[in-house]
Amino acid sequence: MAKPFIKWVGGKRQLIPEIEKRLPKKFNNYIEPFIGGGALLFYLKPFNAIINDYNPELTNVYSVVKNSLNELVEDLKTHENNPEYYYKIRSKDRNPSYINESEVKRASRFIYLNKTGFNGLYRVNRNGEHNVPFANYENPKILDEENLNECSHYLKNVQILNGDFEKAVKENTKEGDFIYFDPPYVPINTTSSFTSYTDQGFDEDMQIRLKELCEYIDSIGGYFLLSNSDTDLVRELYKNFKIDRVLASRSVNSDGEKRGKVYEVLVKNY
Ligand SMILES: C[S@@+](CC[C@H](N)C(=O)[O-])C[C@H]1O[C@@H](n2cnc3c(N)ncnc32)[C@H](O)[C@@H]1O
Repeated sequence: MAKPFIKWVGGKRQLIPEIEKRLPKKFNNYIEPFIGGGALLFYLKPFNAIINDYNPELTNVYSVVKNSLNELVEDLKTHENNPEYYYKIRSKDRNPSYINESEVKRASRFIYLNKTGFNGLYRVNRNGEHNVPFANYENPKILDEENLNECSHYLKNVQILNGDFEKAVKENTKEGDFIYFDPPYVPINTTSSFTSYTDQGFDEDMQIRLKELCEYIDSIGGYFLLSNSDTDLVRELYKNFKIDRVLASRSVNSDGEKRGKVYEVLVKNY
């Protein structure tokens, strides 16, 4: 019963019933180019899947869970839930030698910070340094060995890529494949949305590039389903495809005041 092993901003758990109603009836490979926490991947557990994300620390965690689970579990046992320890671990990426840290150590640090940092946020400053504060949760589950085992087992058949969404799709999509896109959303207004997952951000040009990629998938006989905010830009970009409005609740928002129900859209070409 593998389920997502990290919390992720924009996680799609709440939207799954709406997504499920709109899946293609049949498809070959499953491709998810903005994997984040992987809510839909772990829900569907497709047999042949390719996942991708631009964040190398995130894709490293997936690879380590897949390939080096025992070492990861042993390292996760060593963590402590107190602010002194948290800030010591967080500050590791301030040291130039951090690039020499092993993949297992980096994955362990990522999971630890995700479970004990504020809201499971992943946020780095301009120098690429993790800057989320300690959350002081009473009993965070830093190690969920059973679930990690299930995830590791499932991921054995999943190909994990690190890079830009367009490359991941262009190099891997064939007729009959299904691509689920959950990109950083078009902001509803300039201050409300968290879109800075990566150092390169996700601006309007990226949204246009994504739309053109959807047209490409359509042209080769693939299926795509895409989530995004219900905004004029999204409706304009995808006006030649099917757009459904759905009600979603945001589980993690950088601005706690704005949590709650919002309209989003699901766009598909089938
Ligand atoms: C909305 S989140 C995906 C959430 C995911 N569906 C879940 O359930 O947790 C968007 C993801 O896109 C990634 N991303 C941002 N820019 C990207 C790019 N150019 N190519 C690939 N991934 C990118 C971010 O690192 C982030 O993990």
